[in-house]
Amino acid sequence: MRALLTAGGHGTRLRPITHTRNKHLIPIANKPMLVYGLEAIAGTDIEDVGIVVGDTEEEIRATVGDGSAWGLRVEYLRQEAPLGLAHVLMTGRDFVGGEPFLMYLGDNMLRDGLPEFVHAFEEHRPDAQILLAKVPDPSRYGVVVMEGGRVVHLAEKPVAFVSDLALAGFYLFTEPVFDGAASLRPSGRGEFEITEAIQYLVDHGYSVRAERIMGWWKDTGRVEDLLEANRFVLDEQEHDVQGDVDAASHLVGEVRVDRGAVVRESVIRGPAAIAAGCRIERSVIDPYTSVYLNTTITGSELGNSIVMDDSRIEDVMRIRDSLIGRNVHLRRGDAAPSAVQLMVGDNCAITLP
Ligand code: G1P
Repeated sequence: MRALLTAGGHGTRLRPITHTRNKHLIPIANKPMLVYGLEAIAGTDIEDVGIVVGDTEEEIRATVGDGSAWGLRVEYLRQEAPLGLAHVLMTGRDFVGGEPFLMYLGDNMLRDGLPEFVHAFEEHRPDAQILLAKVPDPSRYGVVVMEGGRVVHLAEKPVAFVSDLALAGFYLFTEPVFDGAASLRPSGRGEFEITEAIQYLVDHGYSVRAERIMGWWKDTGRVEDLLEANRFVLDEQEHDVQGDVDAASHLVGEVRVDRGAVVRESVIRGPAAIAAGCRIERSVIDPYTSVYLNTTITGSELGNSIVMDDSRIEDVMRIRDSLIGRNVHLRRGDAAPSAVQLMVGDNCAITLP
């Protein structure tokens, strides 16, 4: 069995970050999001992965390479335009070569359960298998209506309530799904929808098996989802200090400080993660914060935030619930506010206020 892993799209809900970076490379607990997908796939028997890319192909290649770091063989499949997930399917058709395959949306994170999902498919051999989770806000997702354990109807982001069972971004398909994808017209949002390709299977008498998600699952479409995914992963990390922390600093709880990071006269309350090359000085890092490579934070306080690489934060108090891009310079002006919530794209310099 092979896998298709999606890593294209424009990530419009995450602008401005996605003006300059593919959203799949945003670090979650200091690891690019797409790497979680590669690790999950590597945890199954699958060895061949086709990563479906768009015009940010080079960035993805630079991070993933040939996949050997995860024991995988990776090929890159160029999608001519982000025309939806059923279009992604068609892009990957030759790659999967008529065999059953896994489709994994690279902006979805699943804590566990992928091996079981694949085993169940191999045991039951349905024509397709989907993974569902009950959600409070079904209009954000594709949803599924079940009757007596059978999938009867699917709808993509329904405005009126249809079901609260969301379709997570992990699918197992066989050849007929391509007939479904090929039969579609663009939806209201101009995309070839995967939900409609699955509906085709239901309508044409193919077996579509649904499994429920047990652990956590996150679709990282919005900033709050990224921060939540960051919290989920940080929650599971253990205290691990490889970096250089001075005696005047306090690390409380599950804190990771990677080799090559320096912490001086600071308090870091876990769960929190500081990557290599960072310097944290006279600062307070509160829980659920991850600071990615080569970032310097001095005289500042931040919590529940993701800070990306090569940034500099100076004398800014109470940064909360924020996503701060790469190569950002934040510093305090004369009358800075007492707390700020920021979504800052790459390469910005901001003096607050
Ligand atoms: C896509 C699918 C949707 C699914 C979701 C899961 O939505 O179209 O059916 O529930 O992924 O992440 P999109 O990310 O395009 O909004």
